[in-house]
Amino acid sequence: LNYNVNRERRYILEVLFNGLRRLEYRGYDSAGISIDSSLPPLISDHSNGPSCNCPPPLVFRQEGNIESLVKSVYEDVAATDLNLEESFSVHAGIAHTRWATHGEPAPRNSHPQSSGPGNEFLVIHNGVITNYEVLKETLVRHGFTFESETDTEVIPKLAKFVFDKANEEGDQTVTFSQVVFEVMRHLEGAYALIFKSSHYPNELIACKRGSPLILGVKELTQDENIAASFQDVKFLSNNGQPKELFLSSDASAVVEHTKKVLVIEDGEVVHLKDGDVSILKFDHGKGKHSGAFARPASVQRALSILEMEVEQINKGNYEHYMQKEIHEQPESLKTTMRGRLIRGDSSKSKTVLLGGLKDHLKTIRRSRRIVFIGCGTSYNAALAARPILEELSGMPVTMEIASDLLDRQGPIYREDTSVFVSQSGETADTLHALEYALENGALCVGITNTVGSAIARNTHCGVHINAGCEIGVASTKAYTSQIVVMAMLALAIGGDTISSESRREAIIDSLFDLPNKVREVLKLDQEMKDIAQLLIAEQSLLVFGRGYNYATALEGALKVKEVALMHSEGILAGEMKHGPLALVDETLPIVVIATRDACFSKQQSVIQQLHARKGRLIVMCSKGDAASVCVGGSCRVIEVPQVEDCLQPVINIVPLQLLAYHLTVLRGYNVDQPRNLAKSVTTQ
Ligand code: G6P
Repeated sequence: LNYNVNRERRYILEVLFNGLRRLEYRGYDSAGISIDSSLPPLISDHSNGPSCNCPPPLVFRQEGNIESLVKSVYEDVAATDLNLEESFSVHAGIAHTRWATHGEPAPRNSHPQSSGPGNEFLVIHNGVITNYEVLKETLVRHGFTFESETDTEVIPKLAKFVFDKANEEGDQTVTFSQVVFEVMRHLEGAYALIFKSSHYPNELIACKRGSPLILGVKELTQDENIAASFQDVKFLSNNGQPKELFLSSDASAVVEHTKKVLVIEDGEVVHLKDGDVSILKFDHGKGKHSGAFARPASVQRALSILEMEVEQINKGNYEHYMQKEIHEQPESLKTTMRGRLIRGDSSKSKTVLLGGLKDHLKTIRRSRRIVFIGCGTSYNAALAARPILEELSGMPVTMEIASDLLDRQGPIYREDTSVFVSQSGETADTLHALEYALENGALCVGITNTVGSAIARNTHCGVHINAGCEIGVASTKAYTSQIVVMAMLALAIGGDTISSESRREAIIDSLFDLPNKVREVLKLDQEMKDIAQLLIAEQSLLVFGRGYNYATALEGALKVKEVALMHSEGILAGEMKHGPLALVDETLPIVVIATRDACFSKQQSVIQQLHARKGRLIVMCSKGDAASVCVGGSCRVIEVPQVEDCLQPVINIVPLQLLAYHLTVLRGYNVDQPRNLAKSVTTQ
């Protein structure tokens, strides 16, 4: 960019923009930013508020993706005198990328949301405030006017209300954290919030309840500081040590700056002041009804070290994250299994070791049933693993979509083991279902890809899938790793029952070989692109599966729907005659999954019946089976390597992931940021 923005301001902007670029997969319909101005206001609506003597923070908000915000900020900054040499010894900036919940994507609904003219209080928010209507009514009665349709706007306005009231009552010493504590007392719902205020320059306050938040701490040595590309840019904390502090919804925005992080807990309030950090604890009971503001107690916390690498969140040589993540599966599966499969020798049998579960296996075996709970792809992964769990554990295994369980308030008992499957570990529906299961006294097991996530922290025990950071909104590598973890879970619960020993050994052997087999199936890339080319203009695609591969049909259809924006439905082949057959004619493309397992002959007969109705068939079969599945040679065949039946869903989904990917590219849609969807749905 050629805009003549001075080095220091550009550094500040670029750190914030890069953070947003890293988080764009969480929301991408609008974005906003606020930075400090050391100059008097130049833009009319940035005029000072009545009680503030400080230069008001600048706010830029834009509809569309991050790059539209970047362009508009540079143009706006360049069009003003803000590109003059300005110097900050401390700077506190905030930025946000939005996935609309309340109010359409538009600058007025983007964050930061403001307390009004002068931007005395600014707030960025992840989550949903459920009592915002009541708060809004009260604030309107006190003379506030609202410009957005968001739930968030009540927060900065409430902060201004609290601040003004304290000042009217003569409390000129009210601190930023006290204002925020008072605001938090009135908020219901889920949130991670960052507050910025012209009354408290060089300070930021962040707090959370329900939505994720981490703090990154980077202490620059003198050498690092000099080596930095912006040599003259350094921010000093009180002790004179150059320091940068980062607050973010997830680690991907922080890891390029520092690996030293603190996962913020619910009810904690982070106060950044002049480059220093203090963590305070919010206690819902205390606060100001009458008398003085509560004096929050500070909390000591130790930093932890992120295991993520920057390369993991780059696209490398791939064009899209989804493509990279599909092709990464041989490696991600290896990492998932690393250290967990024991080969065995003549004296010992092959076995699995899931460290996070070993103390709970007895309780799981003694429970009345296992209930799997998840949403989207995570639910499908559990469904794929269900048959092997039933087989090896001999226990009833039931499935729950998290939102549906909550809608029905379905029965969960103390004697249940409930397993929460979630890539992000933060999905609001799954998290609420977890709270519900905890209240009902069930043993709660987490299967997530995100260390330190809410589900990982709040379950009694669990397994990390270790698939590495997944950025593409459509989940791919997390799905296959989840299935593998659940197959290992089945082996662990099954224990060392003699009757199933050979079956267990066969599964373990197949697990060892799985990465190679996935590498083999990835060679179908060009073939899937050719099939995508044939389907490019279709309106609809059906995917038939059953048994182990009913989940494959659902997940394959979900991929096509999510990213290629084509109607697609996964159909349980056993239900074909009870409705779906009515759709079949010579125009509708149908994928039938008919790899070798106990259901193979039934699938052959399904193919016969579809063929008899002139269905346009694309059949997925085991290598060498083309002639047995393709009636009259008239269908397109996808031959895949055969593995142990319960692991076949890991293989079979790969061609369908590739199909969805190529269809999306060919149809000209955004692969990594599909319309209206978000990777991590942290609102209900
Ligand atoms: C969203 C994502 C899906 C994901 C689902 C569950 O809908 O777009 O890709 O499968 O949430 O997410 P989780 O992080 O709980 O697995």
